[in-house]
Amino acid sequence: GTPASKSKTMVTLVVDGTPVTVPEGTSVMRASAEAGIKVPRLCATDSIEAFGSCRLCLVEIEGRRGTPASCTTPVTEGMVVHTQTDKLAGLRRGVMELYISDHPLDCLTCAANGDCELQDMAGAVGLREVRYRPGENHFATRCNGEENPRYIPKDTSNPYFTYDPAKCIVCSRCVRACEEVQGTFALTIEGRGFDSRVASGAGQDFLSSDCVSCGACVQACPTATLQENAIIDMGQPDHSVVTTCAYCGVGCSFRAE
Ligand code: FES
Repeated sequence: GTPASKSKTMVTLVVDGTPVTVPEGTSVMRASAEAGIKVPRLCATDSIEAFGSCRLCLVEIEGRRGTPASCTTPVTEGMVVHTQTDKLAGLRRGVMELYISDHPLDCLTCAANGDCELQDMAGAVGLREVRYRPGENHFATRCNGEENPRYIPKDTSNPYFTYDPAKCIVCSRCVRACEEVQGTFALTIEGRGFDSRVASGAGQDFLSSDCVSCGACVQACPTATLQENAIIDMGQPDHSVVTTCAYCGVGCSFRAE
């Protein structure tokens, strides 16, 4: 969902027929999660402030026009929310279709395969075909062999992670994580439309930027745009781990086979 509200005042609403009571200031997305309903999302997380950029979490609210983003819409007393209508399903598929049309289709060899929220959401909204011509930003050369002036190569300057702009969906989670988790302002969004992308400073690579290699941006990224080099080199770690250490549950290098 989105970060929890600290308000002591409670508000009751109905989501897909289920009544739920949450603190005032809670987002409709988080209230839906409290009611056991997962609204599809790409740019919202439980820990960083909602931004409302991906438009996947649209809902319908009785008495209101349009389809507001559930992550940036606060609940109100007596609100009646619908998250699963045919209209919403069509809108979400349309949004995902555009994302996928501008994304490299290399899932089988991608380091994030099996741990990619874009992949998960394409499945969750039932996307089965893409009607648009693939975007060309992620190819170094065009079909006629000419150099592609819009292509931006990977940034491998940081020793711990790699930035691949071709896989960026510009959800700005990394920018917000850098600011809110680390308190650093190393990242920004530059360009417009198909050319918009995350940048680590004007003309700078990650290593020479203000980035302190804390990894908050890598953790926040829903795709393989910002990916740990260890995962690129060795693949996804096993999800279940065992540990003999009494101090944490991370599992260190003790991997379950
Ligand atoms: Fe709400 Fe992206 S999750 S707009």
